[in-house]
Amino acid sequence: MYHLHILGSGAIGSLLAAGAQRNGLGYSMYPRTTKQCSLNITWINGEQLTITHHNAAPSFLTETDVLVLPLKVYQLSEALAAWKPYLSPATPVVLLHNGMGGLEQARDILGDTHPIILATTSHGAYKADSASIVYTGIGSTMMGLAPHLPTNCVYEAIQKSIVERFEKAFPPVQQIDDIQSALWKKLAVNVAINPLTAIHDCNNGHLLQPEFTETIEGLCDETSQVARAYGINLTKEALITLVRQVARQTANNFSSMHQDVANERRTEIDAINGYIVSLAGKKGIDVPLNTLMVEKVKILAS
Ligand code: PAF
Repeated sequence: MYHLHILGSGAIGSLLAAGAQRNGLGYSMYPRTTKQCSLNITWINGEQLTITHHNAAPSFLTETDVLVLPLKVYQLSEALAAWKPYLSPATPVVLLHNGMGGLEQARDILGDTHPIILATTSHGAYKADSASIVYTGIGSTMMGLAPHLPTNCVYEAIQKSIVERFEKAFPPVQQIDDIQSALWKKLAVNVAINPLTAIHDCNNGHLLQPEFTETIEGLCDETSQVARAYGINLTKEALITLVRQVARQTANNFSSMHQDVANERRTEIDAINGYIVSLAGKKGIDVPLNTLMVEKVKILAS
């Protein structure tokens, strides 16, 4: 019964809205500017859909609404601060972004008891122009309660209902008990694929060439060391296998960071490799490759 309130007009948020529309579920979209009133979506099977955007201004939400933020990490604080006065303490908030650092921002703004669900998706899509989105690869979405929340029946019931809602709108969706590990795995994929595809101006599949092996292995090693220092048990070998698997599965895709650089948009480097560098610094771990990726992408994007 949750009504989906989706912020922004990015590729993943638009796919979620289109999925809700195809399945007859209620949704509202809140683009950053009111100029964008509708978007054309090319679904994975070639079907053409038009989704309608609503007012950019927040509206009051209740416990039967869910606020979904498929935004960049650096857009989160401003969006959450603007929406906070309109949220009931029981309105679930779903964070769906690449990179890390979003939960910390959400806790600062919404407090430690607000129901927050963390999500990560592997569906592929890109914005062909400001009014068109193309759905390029079927993936899946993983969701779970933010790890700082107590696992009591209230939060668990919210989590279950949100997962069911997302499953109806945009399947497949998997409820994950240890969402933190799932997010770290996604982070490890982004740490390797995103900066390298942006720097070398190539698609994800190109990274399977032998010339990238050493750098990918080194980046996975650094990510694994930092993850372990923070209690997330991920081995270098498991991360290398995962990165190569995603590069193969999304071989023809251009990563989001490649698209950001190509379209002269701000990148998510601070929330991806920059996040590893920052956590590593606090524990005295040396992460030269991640540091280099941050420097190179910042030069590209400047
Ligand atoms: O950011 C991206 O583009 C995606 O997360 C991924 C998995 C690297 C595929 O392109």
